[in-house]
Amino acid sequence: MLSITLNVNGISRKVDVEATTTLLDVLRDRLGLLGTKKRCEAGDCGACTVILDGRAVASCLILAVEADGRKVLTVESLSNASGELSPLQKAFIDKGAVQCGFCTPGMLMSAKALLDRNPHPTEDEIREAIAGNLCRCTGYAKIVEAIMEVSRRG
Ligand code: FES
Ligand code: FES
Repeated sequence: MLSITLNVNGISRKVDVEATTTLLDVLRDRLGLLGTKKRCEAGDCGACTVILDGRAVASCLILAVEADGRKVLTVESLSNASGELSPLQKAFIDKGAVQCGFCTPGMLMSAKALLDRNPHPTEDEIREAIAGNLCRCTGYAKIVEAIMEVSRRG
């Protein structure tokens, strides 16, 4: 076992992990943050996307030990302490960008990483930022619209 410390959603969390434990498994199984979804476990679907030191990453491909001492943001960080949703989450709801919702947490985190570094992206930049997030329900148009809406308001 190896002892690591992650800063998760602004809180320092110490966990003991195996060398092969993924960041995704630490978030879900050890820290109880079930918003980050587990799907392909091969880096193909984006359902497990979190933000690691400002960059959207597939947490199923990151070993927990690689995240030692780093800052992780999960979808749980988007709403405030009283549970109020962020403008990005509200826009997804308003624009009908959530259907089954399985892709949504990862999609939101890719969108957040994009908007944090580029508050007014073009449609092409939005499509590129979410290219690693597979959605089988919405056809992407509503998701792109929701992200554009936030960028217009911001
Ligand atoms: S579960 Fe990580 S990319 Fe699919
Ligand atoms: S809303 Fe169902 S996969 Fe995207």
